[in-house]
Amino acid sequence: MKKWNTKKLRELKKAPFQPLSMLTCYDFQTAQMLNESLVDLILVGDSVGNVILGYSNTVSVSLDEMITFGAAVKRGAPQKFTVVDMPFGTYATKELAIKNGLNLFQKTNAEALKLEGHSLEILKSINLLTDSGVPVMGHLGLTPQSVHQQGGYFTHGKSIEERSLILKNAIELQEAGVFALVLECVTSELAAEIDSELSIPTIGIGSGNQTSGQVLVINDLLGMGQKAPPSFCQPVSSLYSKKLELTNSYIGQLKDETPKIIHS
Ligand code: KIV
Repeated sequence: MKKWNTKKLRELKKAPFQPLSMLTCYDFQTAQMLNESLVDLILVGDSVGNVILGYSNTVSVSLDEMITFGAAVKRGAPQKFTVVDMPFGTYATKELAIKNGLNLFQKTNAEALKLEGHSLEILKSINLLTDSGVPVMGHLGLTPQSVHQQGGYFTHGKSIEERSLILKNAIELQEAGVFALVLECVTSELAAEIDSELSIPTIGIGSGNQTSGQVLVINDLLGMGQKAPPSFCQPVSSLYSKKLELTNSYIGQLKDETPKIIHS
């Protein structure tokens, strides 16, 4: 399978296409598996904070952590176009964005970075990063780094006002230079509208099936967590219980087959 690049992604919608697939990844061995898989794009999401590090949200994730996980994934998946999330606070100003963005991009060897949200400072940061040769993916709707600002995790774009604001923001992100846009938990009607208005691909999560592609957290898809994933994700397996079963079966066998140890 040929590796994606930003030129091909920008031109995706010019002809009939198959939906893009994107999965998150956080470690070397899973990256090796994805490198062999049919997946189009990899995201080293800051959801690493929730699913790998056990943080209660993504706000605590640091730049050093994203560098460590991003570089590990890139070592395992050299053939996949890989996007790494800029974590909370690292692009609060355009000066921070360029300093931290170049550092993250260089140290992880990623093909692109992703920034959440829309503000004047973010639009300028996208300009600066893309001018410096760093492709940027946008992210609108539910933006988990702003969970406290947004007031929780819920579907966005339900009112007419909110719908037109998100659409306007999407257009401005495209004008600022993003090559693709993640739409997280927006209504499927709004996702479809944004996708038809933009020339760049939209990649949805919990936003219906009318976007140019879909992204999922791989741990949710494979049922790797103790808790059920969000309702928009139907896991294809239950690796958590399978791993528990296999571990217990090994431990049980070890205990059954080993003679009792008696210390005199
Ligand atoms: O961090 C992440 O995994 C993400 C996806 C949910 C899009 O940003």
